[in-house]
Amino acid sequence: MTASKQERMLAQYDQAMSEAVQQAYYGHSDFYNYGYWADGATCQSEASEALVEKLVSFIPQKRGKILDVACGLGASTRQLLKHFEAEDIQAINLSEVQLAKGRTNAPGVQFTYMDAAHLSFPDNSFDNVLCVEAAHHFKTRDAFFKQAYRVLKPGGRLVMSDIGGGPKWVWQANLLKDAADLKAHQEKAGFEDVLVDDVTDDCWGGFCRNLKRWPSEARSRGELDTKQFLYIWIFSRLYVPITGIGVKKYFLTSAVKPVTAAGGEAPNADGTAKSIDPAPPQTPR
Ligand SMILES: C[S@@+](CC[C@H](N)C(=O)[O-])C[C@H]1O[C@@H](n2cnc3c(N)ncnc32)[C@H](O)[C@@H]1O
Repeated sequence: MTASKQERMLAQYDQAMSEAVQQAYYGHSDFYNYGYWADGATCQSEASEALVEKLVSFIPQKRGKILDVACGLGASTRQLLKHFEAEDIQAINLSEVQLAKGRTNAPGVQFTYMDAAHLSFPDNSFDNVLCVEAAHHFKTRDAFFKQAYRVLKPGGRLVMSDIGGGPKWVWQANLLKDAADLKAHQEKAGFEDVLVDDVTDDCWGGFCRNLKRWPSEARSRGELDTKQFLYIWIFSRLYVPITGIGVKKYFLTSAVKPVTAAGGEAPNADGTAKSIDPAPPQTPR
């Protein structure tokens, strides 16, 4: 049986995240995102940390239960421990390899194998949902919005960074025209107070500039041997134009489930209740 597009994407993440040279690029921080560079980050790990801090800053009251969706190797989850108690944090991913690393990065946090588009949590479980740079991969982003809305308590908040990918790079259903388009998708799922910032240059732009200068800088610091230097130098020159075909836009968003929401999914347009059940527990394929 051939691997599905989703399985290939997940396997690529597992492989890339375990490469020594990529770990060196991320300063062994276990982050894997483009980062936020507008607050003065001087290296990738600082920018990746700044991205999560920026998203957490959208949450006015840092208390209650929070879900880290598509938690990668658990670096964003570890950062949540600066603001939330471990027992109030849950993290999910579709990779057992990444979840295992996450458990060592954020002890005390519950890490679960789960698809962001098919959450198994009951309605009204969380005060906040965080999702860093992953929703463009979900099948689909809209299905995730419905689920995030369902598992949030009334008044709860979804904060996320997201990529407006180009054709052939994301599922057709996940194509986004612009910030207004992303806002419309979140509002359709029932969210209000939706704020979307186009930060393409502050995130993707900063990453591209850093990736280009990093191989020579790391080589002069003695962090790379010749083979690693050549590999990452070539990679850095190819990655930006090739991935740039897909990374058209980069957004930060904050959206609130109305305090008046009855719970569960947003009602139909005519006000009748929609039924949506939590997905059953999922087991790794
Ligand atoms: C760019 S990485 C971001 C990782 C992490 N949030 C960070 O900032 O370091 C994208 C992540 O999305 C995860 N992912 C992709 N599709 C998913 C899905 N349907 N459900 C849960 N996680 C998913 C991948 O395994 C990967 O960890």
